[in-house]
Amino acid sequence: MPRGFLLSFAGLGKALFEQFSQVDDLGRTMGTNPSNGDHEKRVYNRSQSIFNAAPSMILCLGTTPALQRVMFFRQLRLDAVNRAHRTLEGIAGKSINVAKVLKALGAAPLATGFLGGVGGEQIQRVLESRGVAVDFVSVAAPTRECVTVIDELDRTITELVQESAAVDVADYESLQNVIARHLPQCLALVMSGTLAPGGKVDFYAACVKSARTAGIMAVVDAQGPPLLEALAAGPTLIKPNRSELAATVGRALADEAALVKAMHEVQERGAERVVVTGGAEPTLALEGEKLWRISSPRITAVNPIGSGDSFTAGLVWRLLRGDDLGEAARWGAAAGAANALSPMPGELELKDVNRLAGEVLKERLG
Ligand SMILES: Nc1ncnc2c1ncn2[C@@H]1O[C@H](COP(=O)(O)OP(=O)(O)OP(=O)(O)O)[C@@H](O)[C@H]1O
Ligand SMILES: [Mg+2]
Repeated sequence: MPRGFLLSFAGLGKALFEQFSQVDDLGRTMGTNPSNGDHEKRVYNRSQSIFNAAPSMILCLGTTPALQRVMFFRQLRLDAVNRAHRTLEGIAGKSINVAKVLKALGAAPLATGFLGGVGGEQIQRVLESRGVAVDFVSVAAPTRECVTVIDELDRTITELVQESAAVDVADYESLQNVIARHLPQCLALVMSGTLAPGGKVDFYAACVKSARTAGIMAVVDAQGPPLLEALAAGPTLIKPNRSELAATVGRALADEAALVKAMHEVQERGAERVVVTGGAEPTLALEGEKLWRISSPRITAVNPIGSGDSFTAGLVWRLLRGDDLGEAARWGAAAGAANALSPMPGELELKDVNRLAGEVLKERLG
């Protein structure tokens, strides 16, 4: 059994926030004592009052959040002592990046997934301090840590990734309940990243079904079997990068024609819209017969990790504002590029997004 939900709501629009302020306080109390059933009941009951409000949130789901350290070296040498001249500490993992960027863009994210141990508490605290609403399932396994190593002389970026520990089947069931409870207040469910071991490969598929039943947008940024399973459930949008799409269809995609063919294949398997990013190379976006090519703005990238998550956040933000897929992808590209300007994944400035959007070329190919 999960040890309890960490429930709080910090980051809603002003009207919602006013209704929520009491819940937030209670939520924080409960967060420090999740086993206290009285608190849990009170928080849940209080939160019912805002459940009648118009849906406004974007549910950001990811089962593998991470504490993130970014270390800068003049030059890195293997098999030697290396001393960082600058180190940044933060929070990341794909869904956390999406939530952080949505908040920076002025949207109302609600972050969910698994958190464990001291690192999990830290992630929750940082999100709350930024006004991001959170409702995570607390798990026994400590939240993982990732380190990005930047070599300034050789201009390389190396990721050291601690894989997530396994969670219980019951944890996944609890997460499904959290999602079901929040979907009525949400405009979209965004699913990002690999699945923590312990769940079923069709977890995203089940989440897509729930979101579609609730009549909201279901977005999947994943690859391989979890993405293939999710396709059959008819996601509104999928956003792999080029190599993830190649891994999903099981072959190399050498050129744009091969890419477009693979996009049509996943479309036929059930995805309503397919967006494939390519770092500094163009993004392709497909909806029905319509196809766009979106150029990436020219920038000097500091760290492009998390640019795909930022792209997804920008894309969903603009789709919910009524843009068509091509226009929303233009904003996605601007958000992805803005992310690459900062060393910490999922940290960008709205002014950079606005400026870079003007530098993105959008072409209609079909
Ligand atoms: N070096 C770059 N120059 C300009 N734009 C970039 C660069 N890197 C990323 N971007 C922008 O960000 C978008 C997403 O980047 P990318 O394709 O690398 O995502 P990703 O591989 O899914 O990344 P992640 O999974 O780490 O978030 C690109 O389509 C582009 O618009
Ligand atoms: Mg990605």
